[in-house]
Amino acid sequence: MQSIFGIPIPFFVLAIEVFIFIVLIFGWIYGSRRMDLKLHHKAVWLVVFLHILTVGFWMIPVALERLSIALSNPLLYWYQIVHDMIGILAIGLGALLVVIFLIKGRMTPRLLKRTKPFMLLTIGIWSLAFALGLYWFFLGWVP
Ligand code: HEM
Repeated sequence: MQSIFGIPIPFFVLAIEVFIFIVLIFGWIYGSRRMDLKLHHKAVWLVVFLHILTVGFWMIPVALERLSIALSNPLLYWYQIVHDMIGILAIGLGALLVVIFLIKGRMTPRLLKRTKPFMLLTIGIWSLAFALGLYWFFLGWVP
């Protein structure tokens, strides 16, 4: 297992993912509910940036390596398959929202109202991917 300073990389990835989750909840509760959209947007961009590191440079390469093993026994590795699929969906929805906001440029009350259900769906699916990632980590690292 690859490590940094003797600590296996999954521990760093887990720490970053927990931090991302806290930032997401913070951005949601304090940013969106109190209509502090600057805070909300900062939270979103930080999450996007950190996820490029954790998912792009670590999870996707590991998932590709493990793909044939997981598919050879889907009943045993169901949580890995579901985690990867749900993770892709959550990131896809998040990316779609970011693109919509970039195209629209300004967050009007109408745009906020129309995109809110998608934001809630994204954060819900994201939480599910996070929970399955935690489950996966504990199965692998907690004796
Ligand atoms: C919202 C999106 C996602 C969240 C919140 C998330 C969260 C997590 C967490 C908390 C872990 C445990 C830490 C670890 O073991 O390294 C993990 C592991 C993992 N995730 Fe994700 N993940 C997401 C998306 C994805 C995607 C899109 C893929 C690949 C298609 C993926 C593949 C993996 C793999 C292969 C592992 C195990 C890595 C290892 O053995 O170290 N994840 N994920």
